[in-house]
Amino acid sequence: MNVLAIETSCDETAVAILAGSAEIRASEIASQVALHQPHGGVVPELASRSHLSQLEPLIERALASAGLRLAEIDLFAATVGPGLATSLMLGLAAAKGLAVGTGKPFVAVNHLEGHLLSPFLDSPGGVRPYVGLVVSGGHTLLIDVAEVGSYRLLGQTRDDAAGEAFDKVAKLLGLAYPGGPEIDRLARGGDPKRFAFPRSMLGSGDLSFSFSGLKTAVRYMLPQFGEGDLPDVCASFQAAVCDVLVAKTLTAARTANRQLVTVSGGVSCNSRLRERFTADCAEAGIDLLFAAPNLSTDNAAMIGYVALQRFARGETSPLTTDIDPNLRLAA
Ligand code: KG4
Ligand code: ZN
Repeated sequence: MNVLAIETSCDETAVAILAGSAEIRASEIASQVALHQPHGGVVPELASRSHLSQLEPLIERALASAGLRLAEIDLFAATVGPGLATSLMLGLAAAKGLAVGTGKPFVAVNHLEGHLLSPFLDSPGGVRPYVGLVVSGGHTLLIDVAEVGSYRLLGQTRDDAAGEAFDKVAKLLGLAYPGGPEIDRLARGGDPKRFAFPRSMLGSGDLSFSFSGLKTAVRYMLPQFGEGDLPDVCASFQAAVCDVLVAKTLTAARTANRQLVTVSGGVSCNSRLRERFTADCAEAGIDLLFAAPNLSTDNAAMIGYVALQRFARGETSPLTTDIDPNLRLAA
């Protein structure tokens, strides 16, 4: 069973081929970071034009590195949402076109389900019940997972996503886009206790998040920061984000009575977040699984993985399936 999956929900063009239940035979990503960097954020029109020119060569490259011919692909998959409409439609059209052309089935995949299940991609034993934290540029979600396809939303952000907070604060500080990795890098030499930034909604009694107040706090304190303060500002900001993410996730695990916690999405690459989760889960006696760093940011392997799980349950999607830029994962 070989699946070819395409991911074009935002600014990365990605194509992956998975074999069997989850062996990654190829995972190609054409990053558009350099394209959008001068604009300080993703420009949808530039993104879709780049997807269009990158898709075909990436599909060829993925097939070549997997050592497979198109006729040997048994299933095609693509991200259907959420994301930028003009980006989503290119990947979805390509996958549906390949399915029609080869007479093979097609599965439409929710990008967030890709992130949610990605920690299991290279973990033996497959999906077992857990509480998943998905922290990306567009989402901050706490989901209770009973099994593949059975998701309950425990909490989400009321305003900015965690990655969005990283990117916006980085912009305020004059750092390059995308700001998350930059803040992570600079924070390594900084003091996380130097500035007391707010831990919004830490004591709210529910599992909601809010990061826009933290961003505003950094903005108001900007005039106070001196030349050499940047590492301390980054470390203190990052500590504030991590404190809330870790505390709420552990509360969610206790509330949902789950022994396993997973962390995925672009922000799960963050080194302090990884350290804090590792230490606090060990102390609480809770098992922890991260998405591998190369599977944390947007990629097509996670889309192929979901497609395989769904196909194994007898699910395929009709070729009339259309993009849904606001697709949700769970109610
Ligand atoms: O999952 P992803 O690649 O795309 C979305 O679906 O949004 O996540 C991208 C986000 C960006 O906001 C980026 O700044 C953030 O992940 N990110 C990080 C780090 N690496 C990527 N944030 C903090 N620390 C990092 N090391
Ligand atoms: Zn993503």
